[in-house]
Amino acid sequence: MANDGKIKLLFICLGNICRSPAAQGIMEHLAEVRGVGHRFLIDSAGIGSWHVGDLPDRRMREHGRRHGYTFDHRARQFHASADFDRFDLILTMDDANFVEITGQALTDEERAKVVPLARFLRHHPQAHDIPDPYYGGDAGFERVIALLEDACEGLLEQFAQKNMDIVP
Ligand code: 4NP
Repeated sequence: MANDGKIKLLFICLGNICRSPAAQGIMEHLAEVRGVGHRFLIDSAGIGSWHVGDLPDRRMREHGRRHGYTFDHRARQFHASADFDRFDLILTMDDANFVEITGQALTDEERAKVVPLARFLRHHPQAHDIPDPYYGGDAGFERVIALLEDACEGLLEQFAQKNMDIVP
């Protein structure tokens, strides 16, 4: 891991075209608004390779635009051999993501970097994960944005309270 003092966050979902690039864009935006954008390196990746090189799903970009976000990440696949080393915290969207990524960890240290993003939700007490909107309608994409805003605010708040220390 490059020791440049930045906190390195990797958001993970299945395809890297809906939830995780939206999480990346929202977290980048919120960190900038709070004046701490320079403290973070933020990326996202997918478990599957189907969409590698693609922009986020058109529906995800459109819903993001309505909320003031630009989601322009190009999809890439998670690679355990590089990503466990390069990132401090690997934030998964749902249980299947968590099981898959922790299953690729080779050490306890790698495993400890993997944390469900939903753990940082503060205003959605019933939500256990960030559900996949891909096969659903508009409401699913709106809910993803609301959940991601809540969880990313919660995550930033944790960093602020701990003077930007890593907080698995
Ligand atoms: P994501 O959504 O994991 O939030 O990017 C999906 C995108 C594509 C597929 C599944 C989920 N897919 O099967 O192609």
